[in-house]
Amino acid sequence: MSPSGGPQPLSLMFLLGMGLASENINCPSRCSCQYLEVNCTGQQLQEFPMTIPLDTRQLILATNKISYLPAVELSFLADLVYLDCRENLLGDDLDFTFIGVAKLVYLDLSFNNLTQVTFSTFSQLISLVVLKMSDNPNLVAIEKDAFANNTWLRYLDVSRTGLLFLDTSTVRDLPNLRFLALSDNLWHCNCSFLDFTTWMTKSNVHFPDAENITCYMPEGLRGVKVPAVEVQLRFNCLTQLHKQDYIFLCLIGFCIFSAGTVAAWLAGICAVIYEVHTAKGEDDEEEEEDTTTQNCPCVG
Ligand SMILES: *[C@@H]1O[C@H](CO)[C@@H](O)[C@H](O)[C@H]1NC(C)=O
Ligand SMILES: *[C@@H]1O[C@H](CO)[C@@H](O)[C@H](O)[C@H]1NC(C)=O
Ligand SMILES: *[C@@H]1O[C@H](CO)[C@@H](O)[C@H](O)[C@H]1NC(C)=O
Ligand SMILES: *[C@@H]1O[C@H](CO)[C@@H](O)[C@H](O)[C@H]1NC(C)=O
Ligand SMILES: *[C@@H]1O[C@H](CO)[C@@H](O)[C@H](O)[C@H]1NC(C)=O
Repeated sequence: MSPSGGPQPLSLMFLLGMGLASENINCPSRCSCQYLEVNCTGQQLQEFPMTIPLDTRQLILATNKISYLPAVELSFLADLVYLDCRENLLGDDLDFTFIGVAKLVYLDLSFNNLTQVTFSTFSQLISLVVLKMSDNPNLVAIEKDAFANNTWLRYLDVSRTGLLFLDTSTVRDLPNLRFLALSDNLWHCNCSFLDFTTWMTKSNVHFPDAENITCYMPEGLRGVKVPAVEVQLRFNCLTQLHKQDYIFLCLIGFCIFSAGTVAAWLAGICAVIYEVHTAKGEDDEEEEEDTTTQNCPCVG
């Protein structure tokens, strides 16, 4: 028993050592690495970890204090499909951050400090399916064409942000969009928003927290649910006249009035001219008649 049992602990220790070594060589400190997944959740990290294995598919940086994602280091992870950065301090300079991770399918940026999304923010993420940006209270602007390249986008969450307005074309042309979370934003239900509410009622997209998608401005519509406000907006925006409309109508009225006056005046002049002309013609004829009657006897 003892001769055969001798080498076993040794080889076990060797294997364990190998295992530990291979885990430690590449795995960033304070993170755990296994099966192409690197998990650094809740480690008070202030910077993007530098020694991430290059074949990583899934990177979890949730609940840290990271304020900046370096585009170059991120682009080394060319196979990355899943990136979870929720609950960090990522700010407004995300443009061109994701240029090297075109295979990314899942991106969670919720609970951060994003301020705006432009075309350059996600334009290279052509495989993106899930994008979570909820709970970014300073996110006030999403450019019209922000998702123009993300044609596979299926799930988009922009709940609890600082958004007042979303242009319909931002989401209307996404062929695969199925879930769009919009709740608890300070939606400004003015006439520009009418188009969006119309799209919401017509589209096949599911709005998961519909009861909390409400208008915040104008005060008269505060708390009204967004698709339901369409009727009110349609009435306000399409049937009521604005100041410009009144000015326009007055101008038209004035034009018609002046045109009428001028036309009547011209008609009057024409009538007078005609009368004078016909009267003169009759005189001429009479004169002619006179001359012929005078001349005839001479010829005769
Ligand atoms: C990452 O680690 C945290 C805590 O260490 C754990 O709660 C979480 O489930 C892990 N995530 C994944 C996807 O394994
Ligand atoms: C969030 O961003 C705003 C504007 O860029 C900045 O003033 C604020 O300090 C940031 N907040 C945090 C917690 O970083
Ligand atoms: C994404 O947008 C960029 C910039 O317009 C363009 O060069 C690129 O070809 C687009 N990618 C796809 C897949 O459309
Ligand atoms: C509606 O509100 C949004 C956000 O405040 C603003 O950008 C837009 O110009 C407004 N449109 C009109 C017609 O007032
Ligand atoms: C709507 O908001 C209220 C209060 O914030 C919350 O309790 C409720 O769960 C929300 N409903 C949905 C469907 O998210």
